[in-house]
Amino acid sequence: MIEIMKTILSGIKPTGKPHLGNYFGYFRQMINLQNEYRTFAMIADYHALNFIQNADEMRKLTKEVVIDFLALGFDTEKNILFKQSDLPEHTELAWIFDTIMSVPYLKRAHAYKDAVDKGKEDEVSMGTFNYPMLMAADILLYSPDIVPVGQDQKQHIEFARDTAEKFNRVFGETFKLPEAYIMKEVEVVPGIDGRKMSKSYGNYISLFAEDNEIEEKVMAIVTDSSGERPENVYAIHRLLATDDGSTSLTIDKLEEVYRENKGQYKKLKEILIEDLKKFIGPLREKRTEIAKDPDIVTKVLEEGKEKARAVAGSKMSEVRRAVGVI
Ligand code: ADP
Ligand code: TRP
Repeated sequence: MIEIMKTILSGIKPTGKPHLGNYFGYFRQMINLQNEYRTFAMIADYHALNFIQNADEMRKLTKEVVIDFLALGFDTEKNILFKQSDLPEHTELAWIFDTIMSVPYLKRAHAYKDAVDKGKEDEVSMGTFNYPMLMAADILLYSPDIVPVGQDQKQHIEFARDTAEKFNRVFGETFKLPEAYIMKEVEVVPGIDGRKMSKSYGNYISLFAEDNEIEEKVMAIVTDSSGERPENVYAIHRLLATDDGSTSLTIDKLEEVYRENKGQYKKLKEILIEDLKKFIGPLREKRTEIAKDPDIVTKVLEEGKEKARAVAGSKMSEVRRAVGVI
């Protein structure tokens, strides 16, 4: 029996430097699963256009994400790293989805609701409102089995499933229903203030941070002296401990460190600094090395575009036939 390799697709917006939340909630899953699955990693530049409206900035940030993926070990020989805007199929399919999904349905989206709650309903752009339709197109064009993301993207995957179901009902069986792949332990990585680590809260530790940034950020972790251990320090430290041999810090070792240094918050922060340096240092060095090659980004994206087009193009032909435009 021939075993067909399953497929993953996930995307990330080029909106700034990645942080530990992005790594543990997103990148790590993509890297860990890339040998078992045919993996499509997409740079969601058209989604980012809702936030980045400066051409030079957009080009720079897009390039940075390609280098980030390569530094983390994404294998572009075997898998596919591509840019959303290189495939017009994405916006084309989003338009088709716009014609079958309703305004009240899209008003349920968290991003839209947040704007309404903040009294900013009148400022919501069409791009923000239709964001879930473009994301549904990103996903459904590639028929992935799973979509690895952090918890905050769960609703978007549900929108993609609903959209696929509706399309299949109206035009006939065309799309496979995707499943979100969210790892329980890292569904919400906390930042240095204990809230979700996020670019927008400024509570993050960069994934490729320099040593001085690591020191400053860890020393700024908010601690609460009422408990047995500094929970916000432990939560970040815990991310670095594994039992699969991939890091030298095991979970047992970590527990021992916290037992031995009970109540010594400063000491525990210093140990976290050392462990973060050990983890981040080699990644940062690899990233610097890769960034020296001036042609690498163009080469990777050109290859990615061709490989993605083979899949998205044939799905789109199927869709065009299903809706009757060809
Ligand atoms: P940010 O909130 O910093 O702007 P993004 O929205 O660009 O991050 O998220 C990119 C990816 O990283 C998504 O898959 C998202 O779910 C994941 N992610 C972001 N922050 C976290 C976090 N704190 N914990 C877990 N996953 C996260
Ligand atoms: N909305 C996702 C984010 O903010 C990025 C994204 C765009 C995405 N298209 C996707 C994620 C398709 C998974 C699948 O992080």
